[in-house]
Amino acid sequence: MQQFLYEHYLGLKALHIIAMVAWMAGMFYLPRLYVYHVKAAKGGELSETLKVMERRLLRIIINPAMIVTWLCGGLMIWANPSIMQEGWIHVKLTALLLMQIVHAMLARHRKQFLKDANAHSERYYRIINEVPTVLLVIIVIMVVVRPF
Ligand code: HEM
Repeated sequence: MQQFLYEHYLGLKALHIIAMVAWMAGMFYLPRLYVYHVKAAKGGELSETLKVMERRLLRIIINPAMIVTWLCGGLMIWANPSIMQEGWIHVKLTALLLMQIVHAMLARHRKQFLKDANAHSERYYRIINEVPTVLLVIIVIMVVVRPF
């Protein structure tokens, strides 16, 4: 199995990058929808439309893309376990842990909006919107530049 994964390493990496782009696109877009949802009248047409958009974005794009990103990343580590000796991947995985926490928070906020029970301000979602970007910059610099 390890030999098979090593032979298909670049294919795994390509799928990894495609999946992480989709994951990040959704992580940037979802909090943006929440910024508008905060201002929408409860029970109104806009609020009900945003609920459908948020559910589809999370269930059809963000969650599957996150799973494929982790799966390909994990299979690449399986194929090339020596990579875990390098410093950069530990910073990358720590940033990914924080990315997962933001992902979980966004999923919880979706449920709050669904129940018309959102308790956070527009400013809160504008700040949350920046966190995945900062983490992405750290992750890509670590995996491409490998400073240590
Ligand atoms: C937002 C999430 C992620 C981003 C933006 C990201 C980004 C990247 C990029 C750009 C590469 C290609 C680097 C190169 O060829 O120079 C890469 C490779 C890799 N990533 Fe990720 N990744 C993410 C998540 C993950 C996860 C969750 C894992 C671990 C489970 C992981 C493990 C790896 C591994 C092992 C490689 C191959 C490194 C190599 O052999 O060159 N990544 N990642």
